[in-house]
Order: sequence, then C-alpha cells, then structure tokens
Amino acid sequence: MSHREDLGLFLGQALRRPQSVSALVPSSERLARAMAAQVPAGKGPVVELGPGTGKITRALIAAGIAAADLHLFEINAPFVELLHLRHPDATIHHRGAQQMTQVGLSDVRAVVSGLPLLSFPRGLQDEILTAAFELLPPGAPFIQFTYGPSNPVPQPLMTRLGLVAQRRCRIWGNLPPARVYTLTRSIS
Ligand SMILES: C[S@@+](CC[C@H](N)C(=O)[O-])C[C@H]1O[C@@H](n2cnc3c(N)ncnc32)[C@H](O)[C@@H]1O
Repeated sequence: MSHREDLGLFLGQALRRPQSVSALVPSSERLARAMAAQVPAGKGPVVELGPGTGKITRALIAAGIAAADLHLFEINAPFVELLHLRHPDATIHHRGAQQMTQVGLSDVRAVVSGLPLLSFPRGLQDEILTAAFELLPPGAPFIQFTYGPSNPVPQPLMTRLGLVAQRRCRIWGNLPPARVYTLTRSIS
C-alpha cells in the first residue's frame, strides 16, 4: 500500500470514527521520529498505543527497535489488518489500550502513545494511564504527543499516579503542530 493509499485509508477511518481517530492525517515523519527518539536504549518490549497506519511504528523500527519487541494496541480493524501485513514480526493486539495489562507483558521499556488522549473521557484516560504505569518500571517513560498547549494528562491523575511530565520538542511542521511529552513516575 502506497503513502497516498495510507492517507486515503486514514481519512476514510477518521470520517467514519472521528471520536477514536481524531485527526484527518497521520503524524508527520518528524513527529514520528521525535516520538521514537524518546525511547531509551536497552532491552524489553516497547508498547505502542493507537498506531493507526503505522507512522510511528516505522519510526520506532528505523530508530533500531526490533519489530519483535513491539506490541501494538489498536482498536480499528482496517488499521489492524494493514499493520499485520506490514509488520509480521510485531505483536499486534486488536484491543483497546486500556487492556494492555491483560496480555502478559512485563518490564516494558516505554509506552509510546499516538492516542488522542485529550478527546478521551476522563475515565478512559485514567484506565489507560493506570494500566501503562502498572507495566512501566520506575524511570521508564510514557511518551505522548498533543496538539494542545500543555500536558494532556489531567493534574489530578498525574498526582494520583505520582507522575512528572517533561516537555520535549515542538514539531511545527506537523498538521496541526504538536508537542512531545514524556511522563515518568516521580522518585520520592
Ligand atoms: C490520532 S490517530 C494516530 C495514529 C498514528 N499513531 C499516527 O500518529 O499517525 C489515533 C489512533 O488511536 C486509535 N485508538 C483510539 N482509541 C483507542 C484505544 N482505546 N485503544 C487503542 N487504539 C485506539 C485509533 O483507531 C487511531 O488509529
């Protein structure tokens, strides 16, 4: 499937499921590379949430992460089908990100989220972040981009989970411009 066909598939799914896809085009290459650059070197599974057509997945592999270390969680069936074709060595879970603790993962190196967290209800944000930090050992990052002006995770949830946010780069060339954040458990 070509880049143009990817765009067509993405736009079609965005129009059918605006709430869950929540963008009209996939992330730019620069944003995908900026997200991948935040994954620490080392061993262990890397979880990607909401990979869509796999823009960030490709950047993760290009950054040296073995496809066999990737666990992708995606709810959209046409995207899942495409990801299976493109990344046969990755493990693709056709289920919600909120279920990431249910597949036997441990010692996760990073969770890379392409989810539209800001447009999710509070309860779902809570479920996803709680699940992610059950899998992430201290210091391991939850990597999130946002189109909004600040950290997209609400402060009460940050406090409850004991998280600190670090603002990373802004990608002006993305449509719309996006900012990368990393969240880790604060060491007390
Ligand atoms: C904004 S798109 C991002 C796609 C891709 N990561 C990118 O950056 O181009 C959001 C993706 O999250 C998926 N998604 C939405 N809710 C989800 C959930 N609860 N669990 C897993 N994937 C979800 C959508 O189907 C869509 O593929």
